[in-house]
Amino acid sequence: MGQGLKALMDRVRLHKFMAACGVASRRAAEKMIADGRVKVNGTVVTTAGYTINPHIDRVELDEKLVQVKKDKQYYLLYKPRGTLTTVSDPFGRRTVMELLERKDVFPVGRLDLDTEGLLLLTDDGELAYRLTHPRFKVKKKYLAWVKGKPSEEKLKLLREGVQLEEGPVSPARVELLAERGGKSILHITIHEGKKRQVKRMCAAIGHPVITLKRVAFAFLTLQGLKPGEYRRLTTEEVKKLLHYAGLPDS
Ligand code: URA
Repeated sequence: MGQGLKALMDRVRLHKFMAACGVASRRAAEKMIADGRVKVNGTVVTTAGYTINPHIDRVELDEKLVQVKKDKQYYLLYKPRGTLTTVSDPFGRRTVMELLERKDVFPVGRLDLDTEGLLLLTDDGELAYRLTHPRFKVKKKYLAWVKGKPSEEKLKLLREGVQLEEGPVSPARVELLAERGGKSILHITIHEGKKRQVKRMCAAIGHPVITLKRVAFAFLTLQGLKPGEYRRLTTEEVKKLLHYAGLPDS
């Protein structure tokens, strides 16, 4: 069969196509479909797993054409406290998007409103999906200022995988860096991304988090950035990140 004909017969899942076009992560695209925001050839489609032929079918999100983009965007932001990691907020609260020049990217994963630190933003839905999926075990490092001074036994609990309400979390790498004025600084490395994970882990050992900062994500760090500042990833960093997530870099 000729290449052209084969391409015309290739079908892909609608939510995957949308993610590949940089509209949103796969999960968010599934929700957009379920919410009735997506049309294929002029008809709203809400069926999970619906497939299309991207060479023939016309896909629209909120009446706007969804197209394959060529150059993807990758940003690293030092998220300040008090900003939401959502694209928009129905209550008009400040989101990280207000800090960026580009509005066609979305945050990779989330940080709590009162957490500061490293946040990636991209329009690369496939990469975002992989970097946030627990299967890919992306390393995330935090500095947590906690109440009191955790004993060695308490730190051991965190290192072995503390019990949360939904079950145990995976073992974490934990170092006690300093202790002063009734507070301690913990350096915590995790590979999961459960909701409010670090805060719940510390609360579970009786040392609630006072402030939290994400200092690294995969091999990326906050070096050179102040709260509210951002930069584009370098070509080398993008390649390395794609490689990290098991994706081809071209
Ligand atoms: N863990 C938390 O508890 N909060 C965050 O924002 C990130 C990780």
